[in-house]
Amino acid sequence: DIGCNLAGLQLSCCILNASGPRTNTEQQLMDIARSSSGALCSKSATLEERSGNPQPRYTEIQLGDRTASINSEGLPNKGFAAYSDSSFLQRLKECSEPHGKPYIFSISGLSLKENLEMLDRLAESPDVLQHLSAVEVNVACPNVPGKPLVGYDFPQFAEVVQTMSRHPLFTKDCVLGFKLPPYLDAPLFDAVAKMLNEIALGRGGALGYVVCCNTLGSALAVDIETETTVLHPKGGFGGLGGQLVRHLALGNVRHLRSRLDDSIHVVGCGGVATGEDAFAHILCGATAVQVATQHRVEGPQCFERIASELRELMQRKGYTQLEDFRGKLRVR
Ligand code: DHB
Repeated sequence: DIGCNLAGLQLSCCILNASGPRTNTEQQLMDIARSSSGALCSKSATLEERSGNPQPRYTEIQLGDRTASINSEGLPNKGFAAYSDSSFLQRLKECSEPHGKPYIFSISGLSLKENLEMLDRLAESPDVLQHLSAVEVNVACPNVPGKPLVGYDFPQFAEVVQTMSRHPLFTKDCVLGFKLPPYLDAPLFDAVAKMLNEIALGRGGALGYVVCCNTLGSALAVDIETETTVLHPKGGFGGLGGQLVRHLALGNVRHLRSRLDDSIHVVGCGGVATGEDAFAHILCGATAVQVATQHRVEGPQCFERIASELRELMQRKGYTQLEDFRGKLRVR
């Protein structure tokens, strides 16, 4: 059994898609709904539809049989209304029978005001809320020109957490998650965890989980022949994902799991391409695991493959459920 309880949400499979690749259109989300993904996570929405940055804005780096990615997409998305349309959500549910799977609505407003506006609209729509399991607030998009990353600006981040975790939406049946950027220095993990423990939990807020982590910003791909950047937007810089952030993500999961209150779950994200990668994330303390670059490369059949590899590995080790090894990484 590789099901899990993510901050109160029942997932039949702990492997799910990350917001980002193949999550923009109705068709792409339907394909995830029909797959073995344990939940459905939509592309980070802004209030208005966006076409994103100019092309080329995505590239892959092949490392043997594994893949890393650099993207500077700039939040292309269909806009808040498209991902919160109740008849669309009903169709999604019908695709993911027998019981439907949790729908995680990712939002990435260009300001706190815009994020709050989206929460307000959700809270006012019972027909949408009945389909909504969680809102995942992305505070880690590195690719919108002129918009510094909220998760690295602690005063601003604290205000976002303080305000959003107290929104009435999260006193209902809806879970709040934050998608974090990768952090690189131990004092930053102390500071983020303290802030989340104290502000979100300590003052009557609600916080279900954090995702560790989004892409690592300021990556640059160089074309030797043309002597140009590979990507066009933002001077060629973009967010690094996939295989090249796998160990950084594991470190982030482990660091935050050891500092956060037990009631705040950690979702691993970064470089998961195999059952072993998922196992490592769970061993570091992840409740569930998101897949982005590999989902883009392989398509939604990746969820069943990774899940069955994880089941096989567990069987070999004599584990019957994730709790048998979750967070039990030992230091040599
Ligand atoms: C985009 C990239 C991200 O890493 C993210 O968190 C959100 C959006 C993007 O460029 O679309």
